[in-house]
This record gives sequence, structure tokens and C-alpha cells, in this order.
Amino acid sequence: MIEVTKKLENGIDLISMKSDDLEVVVTNFGCTIVKVLMKDKHGNIDDVVLGYDEMEKYATLDAYLGALVGRVANRIKKGHFELNGKEYNLAINNGPNHLHGGIKGFSYQTFDYEIKDDHTVEFHYLSKHMEEGYPGNLDLKAIYTLEGDTLTIRYVGTTDEDTLINITNHSYFNLSGKKENIYNHLLVMKADKFACVDPDGLTTGEFRDVKGTPFDFNEPALIGERVIMEDEQLKLGNGFDHPFVFNTDKDQSILIHEESGRKLTVSTTLPMAQIYTANYLDGRTGKYGHQYFARDAVCIETSALPDAIHLEENPTTILKKGEVYDETTSYKFEVIK
Ligand code: BGC
Repeated sequence: MIEVTKKLENGIDLISMKSDDLEVVVTNFGCTIVKVLMKDKHGNIDDVVLGYDEMEKYATLDAYLGALVGRVANRIKKGHFELNGKEYNLAINNGPNHLHGGIKGFSYQTFDYEIKDDHTVEFHYLSKHMEEGYPGNLDLKAIYTLEGDTLTIRYVGTTDEDTLINITNHSYFNLSGKKENIYNHLLVMKADKFACVDPDGLTTGEFRDVKGTPFDFNEPALIGERVIMEDEQLKLGNGFDHPFVFNTDKDQSILIHEESGRKLTVSTTLPMAQIYTANYLDGRTGKYGHQYFARDAVCIETSALPDAIHLEENPTTILKKGEVYDETTSYKFEVIK
């Protein structure tokens, strides 16, 4: 069942999506996932994503809690790129680089939306030519479907001029319901390689084998045991803040909190995901009066290669006029005994 539960100012609404297993609250402001309410193995319901009570905070703070991120997620070196022989300059909003679509990227835009049926909400946003410095009028649909224990998000984009696109969702998961940090969460990442970053968090173009490093999550491993290990890349990222390149095309990432019995499986058509252990959360106050600090959650940001425009010979983040960007990521929230 889907219903609009609150109409706020400026056309911003809260929308509740309910199934027998889950309640997911979303808003058309940045297509943000505000709540994911699920049972634990004893039947107790908790909210397993971080977020805010006040919309104001989503609009003014910088951590992208639950938000759809675009036009281009992650960093673009020095906020500068060339496309079809033309130069483009974007906002420098993260050290020397451009981050998450700029000052007013998609996370800060109000989408229009339509409730399609009992399971699906379709959000829509037209990002104008040169908005945040990117060329082309980009038409984006984000289709959120809740069926049983699975939330599926499909992103469909077209443009009237060649442009860049790399959309992700920036939910901060904590399957304990924020009763503890994520140290006792087991993570699985079906990935043989990860991408290295520089001290500003920018991908360098170097890929490393996960074997023999704290980045090997092919078998379930506790985040808490790994994140504290001595490793040059972990130090540079202040924890995990790195793209993992998938070695399979389904169920690539799994997060388990054994005590509550909660398990999240992420499946995507995208080639990698940035694992971010909330390294820069600063004690701000979120929902239920909880304070959010580093390691209080983990983001699994499915995407194309960050800074692909500078690192790939045929950048996968270029969307040509006439082409369709069509990617899907699903989140399955299960209870295991
Ligand atoms: C980035 C982090 C950044 C965070 C912003 C992540 O996707 O990789 O470096 O601090 O988003 O909240």
C-alpha cells in the first residue's frame, strides 16, 4: 500500500510504502529514503537507516542521508572535464574536487511524482542544461517499488545533449536500529578488486587485488575487525570509502547483523559500489534524538567508476543524446533466525 502521509511546504511530501514485511518512508525531496522499518528475529520493529526528523536538515546538511545522488555521484577531479571538445567547470565542493553533483545536486531537488499502483512510486526530475555546470537537459525517472521484503529502485535517464550521469542512493544502513555502531555487522562484497583513492578521497585509477588485504569481503567479515586494520588505503579514506568492483552480476553485497537477525542483500545492474563507513559523521542529531558519529552506519553506493570521465578510455558515465541510462538496484531486507 502507498499513501501520502504528510504534505509539507514547497510541494515536499512524505510517502509511506508498506508491504507485509516492511514500511519504507520516502520523500520527493531528493527521492530520499527517510525510514526503513523492519522486524528483528523477535518481531521488534526498528528503523534501519539513518535520517532526520526535520526536512530542513535534509536541505541544509551535507551527508546525503538516504538521498538519491546525481547528476554524477562521487568525485570529479578538480570539477573539470572535457566532453566533445568542450570544457566544463563544476562546483568545487569537496577539497579540490567536485562531489555528488555539486552544491545543489539531485539530493537537494524536489522531484514530482506519481503513485503508479499499490507498490510503485515514480519520481521525475528534469535537470536543466548547465544546471550545476553539466550540459544537456537530463530527464530522470527514479522508480521505487516495494514488494514483500524488497525495495527496488530503477533509474531511467535521457538527455538532449551528450552529458555525464552516475546515479546512486546514499542510504546509511545500521541493521541494529542504531542500538550500536556497525562494528558487529558482517559484510560480504563479491569483489576481487577495489579502487584506490588519494588523500582527498578521489579515485586514482589504480585498482588493487583485495586478496590479503582488509578489503577482502568475499567471505563474511566483521566491519569492526577490518576497519581498524593497518592499511595505507584505509588510512587515506579514514576508514572504508572505496569502490569495490563486482565479480558477479547479482546479490553482490550482503550486510548481516547477527544479534537482530537482520540481513540486507543488495543486487544491482551497476558494476561496483562505494563502501563508506560513515567516516565523516560528526555527532549531528538525527531521528529519535540519536546522535550520529563515524561508523554508526555503512553506505553501499552502487555506481559506475567514480571520476570515470578522467580514468576510463570510454567513460561509462557518458550518456549520449538518444541513449537511455537504465540501471536498477534492489535492497532485500530479510530476517534470519
Ligand atoms: C563519499 C564520502 C563523503 C560522503 C558524503 C561518500 O559517498 O565517498 O567521502 O564524505 O559521501 O557524505
